[in-house]
Amino acid sequence: MSTTPNTPPSDSAGHELSCKISARAHDAPASPAGKRPAPPCTLVIFGAAGDLTKRLLMPALYNLAVDGLLDGGMKIVGVNHGARETGEWRDDLHASLRQFAADKASTFHAGKLDDTAWDWVAQRLDYMAGEFESDETFAMLKQKLDQTPGGNVIFYLAVGSRFFKPIVEHLGQAGLLKEGEGASGGFRRIVIEKPFGTDLASARDLNAHILSYARESQVYRIDHFLGKDTVQSILAVRFANALFEPMWRREYIDNVQISAAETLGVEGRGKFYEQTGAFRDMVPNHLFQLLGMVAMEPPNSFDAEAVRDKKAEIFDAIQPLNPDDVVFGQYENGPAGIGYREEPDVAPNSTTETYAAARVFIENWRWAGVPFYLRTGKRLAARRTEIAVQLKPVPFRLFRDTPVDALTPNVLTLRIDPAHGTSFDFNVKTPGPVMRIGAVQSSFDYGDFFAERANVGYETLLYDCMLGDETLFQRADSIETSWCAVDDVLHPKTGGALAVHGYAAGSDGPAQADALLAYNGHAWRPLKKNAIEKK
Ligand code: BG6
Repeated sequence: MSTTPNTPPSDSAGHELSCKISARAHDAPASPAGKRPAPPCTLVIFGAAGDLTKRLLMPALYNLAVDGLLDGGMKIVGVNHGARETGEWRDDLHASLRQFAADKASTFHAGKLDDTAWDWVAQRLDYMAGEFESDETFAMLKQKLDQTPGGNVIFYLAVGSRFFKPIVEHLGQAGLLKEGEGASGGFRRIVIEKPFGTDLASARDLNAHILSYARESQVYRIDHFLGKDTVQSILAVRFANALFEPMWRREYIDNVQISAAETLGVEGRGKFYEQTGAFRDMVPNHLFQLLGMVAMEPPNSFDAEAVRDKKAEIFDAIQPLNPDDVVFGQYENGPAGIGYREEPDVAPNSTTETYAAARVFIENWRWAGVPFYLRTGKRLAARRTEIAVQLKPVPFRLFRDTPVDALTPNVLTLRIDPAHGTSFDFNVKTPGPVMRIGAVQSSFDYGDFFAERANVGYETLLYDCMLGDETLFQRADSIETSWCAVDDVLHPKTGGALAVHGYAAGSDGPAQADALLAYNGHAWRPLKKNAIEKK
């Protein structure tokens, strides 16, 4: 996470190289203050022609090049089935980049492409045709990589999850995961995208498979939510301010709502979604990561292991969810469009959930008894990823005509997407001769204080991987404890599969989800802006 400009990389080989290289003439543009270029490495992207590479990896590499955070010795090898020349791959990537830059709505918002930075990236591209499961591909790759003995290599698996095992196995068998000895020996790292397994058993199996070819410290499991500045900022808000720590506990916090609501439907991903559903797609990974950031104890430092240990404690303390803690929904025809069952590649009688809500308890001293409500869904009323921390009511009725329970509760909202910032709801006296209470909101928006940076959310993750900083990546144990917490929902021991309730496309989700909260006297925050929200 590079929490301080000087965070040393945990990999000694990488560190040595970075020190030498940053002292050398560097032909990329100057880096932002306090940041040094990553050590030189070869980034091998499996899935070079895929969507992830075009939409996220290349724009992120380009942005890193603009900031001068890549070393002059970097190379990017793209592996994909299908013969094509490097020039063709380069042109294809360039066209996508130009398109993103022109699209004002995209988070790439670079406005205009910087030709020098693009040329810098383009010169380093090298395409290699190869099947992901063939020995020949890995023999060719080995030959290519042997040209820079002792070099650092990152293998990025931007491929469907069915290829994770065979690729790692081939890399291992070809000797490509063997790291060099001593300071001049290069690192070998594997980056794996989600979905990391589909339940506890498959995640354990995948971990065991990978770890039979690589050490844990070589494996970088990505959860892209952790690449977001607003998610990393949760730790800053909590641990860089004296204000919050005293109230950050069960004595003062009534409940926490974590939402990742989307207005988009399945967007042509019907095949994937039919197999996955909203719960697997979002809950034990993205939403649990947010939960971990909010609930973890303060680490002793921002070292990767210190942070990951504290997060692991939270995942371990989650009371295993049972089917009564969860509500599933599926969007139907509504003001926002067609129902899920009418989407391409979706069965007309599909029972896949496009919405999931869960009530989670953390069994530890700080959080005992505080409900954490999680919800996510497609085709909802608004796009809103946020964490709302609601405080308990004041203890005593002090204001005439204003009973305690009529006061608007204090809520600290950490806004992740699309708004970036925080807000705090509190009560003041309304103007006039009578003492009346009115709810107001104080809010901070990143854009008001900081210049917007071109960012697709993968820059930090790629840069950290090159540095060997694993803070923002998932460790094997946390992946497994997260899946373990939801195993009874995925494989109910009694009662069969969970009911899936309909909700109108464009609504706040199924009414049945209200009951999860009503039980404790709580209610979901509306997804559309409420009366006191400014942004
Ligand atoms: C992905 C899910 O991991 O996260 C998608 O597979 C979801 O279904 C996406 O839309 C949400 O991410 P973000 O960053 O757009 O909120």
